Amino acid sequence: MKTNAIRIGEYGGPEVLEFSEIDLPELQKGEARIRHTAIGLNFIDTYHRSGLYPMPLPTGLGSEAAGIVEEVASDVTSIKVGDRVVYTGRPADSYSERRNFDADRLVPIPDEISDEHAAALLLKGLTAWYLLRRSYRVQSGDNILLYAAAGGVGLIASQWAKYLGANVIGVVSTKDKAELAKSHGCDHIIFSEENISEKVRKLTDDEGVAAVYDSIGKDTFFSSLDSLRPHGVMVTFGNASGPVDPFSPAELASRHSLYVTRPILFDFISDRGNLLLASKELFDLVIEGIIKINVNQKYALRDTAQAHIDLESRKTTGSTILVP
Ligand SMILES: NC(=O)c1ccc[n+]([C@@H]2O[C@H](COP(=O)([O-])OP(=O)(O)OC[C@H]3O[C@@H](n4cnc5c(N)ncnc54)[C@H](OP(=O)(O)O)[C@@H]3O)[C@@H](O)[C@H]2O)c1
Repeated sequence: MKTNAIRIGEYGGPEVLEFSEIDLPELQKGEARIRHTAIGLNFIDTYHRSGLYPMPLPTGLGSEAAGIVEEVASDVTSIKVGDRVVYTGRPADSYSERRNFDADRLVPIPDEISDEHAAALLLKGLTAWYLLRRSYRVQSGDNILLYAAAGGVGLIASQWAKYLGANVIGVVSTKDKAELAKSHGCDHIIFSEENISEKVRKLTDDEGVAAVYDSIGKDTFFSSLDSLRPHGVMVTFGNASGPVDPFSPAELASRHSLYVTRPILFDFISDRGNLLLASKELFDLVIEGIIKINVNQKYALRDTAQAHIDLESRKTTGSTILVP
């Protein structure tokens, strides 16, 4: 069977993304074939494309999509033909009209949630889940600092953190993003060009925040450490400005016994039990209306290069969908 998909033959900028027809292999044991209806765009896709997170070449791209199960291998029992499903994970190949994937990694989509919303929320929402519920468990009354608060992960995490009772300080780059972040749970906004730690101190009676969720990386690492209260937790989970440089543990001692963690989503959902548990917690909050999903950009799959350009130039807000 043939399908259309994005392929890269070399690492580089958005220009290396090629839309082409490929052969879909026969289903292997444990796999299902999915016809995609909506594909989630994520910042990690740009790291795969640039080679920051290397993968053997040539390769597909994309870590999240929703669709319909078209066929399952004879040993698959967890899912059946016709089911609406969403998934996140590797191998990266969700920028495609159809693909084969491990059936155990597929999550059934509840009736109340559309395919588009499912593809817009699974990877980003599960990230918000582990950040706020596992990496540092937010307590009611905590001050927290969240970067890219109007972004894909950011809009979900700010709503979720507010629901957990946190005082949410969001960092964004523009006034429009500030408005959006404020209407999705941020109590305070700091603009990226401001002195972040100084502003955090002012907003927290000089105490500092219990946790920083920093997806910017290189440019913000030390401002983030400077924003923490004694024993505070630095969750560095992304590289939008480049990877964090090596640093000495003494930096943590001089700032009063800080903790640093560098988590990745897949370690929190590596077994099906945790994947389904976390997905249910996320879906329930969406169905209850506590977390609203913002699909603020849509592109045809063949225009993925433009989607990458817009994501990397900070033009997007909320979630972005590629339409196969
Ligand atoms: N470790 C994990 O498990 C995990 C899982 C999912 C996502 N992530 C990370 O979480 C972050 C958010 O992912 P997302 O897909 O939701 O993307 P996103 O937040 O929608 O987009 C990235 C945002 O980062 C901000 N940014 C600051 N400096 C930037 C720079 N130099 N270049 C580009 N953007 C910059 C921009 O917001 P402003 O203009 O408002 O600053 C931009 O909109 C990414 O860093 C991603 O790698 C990590």
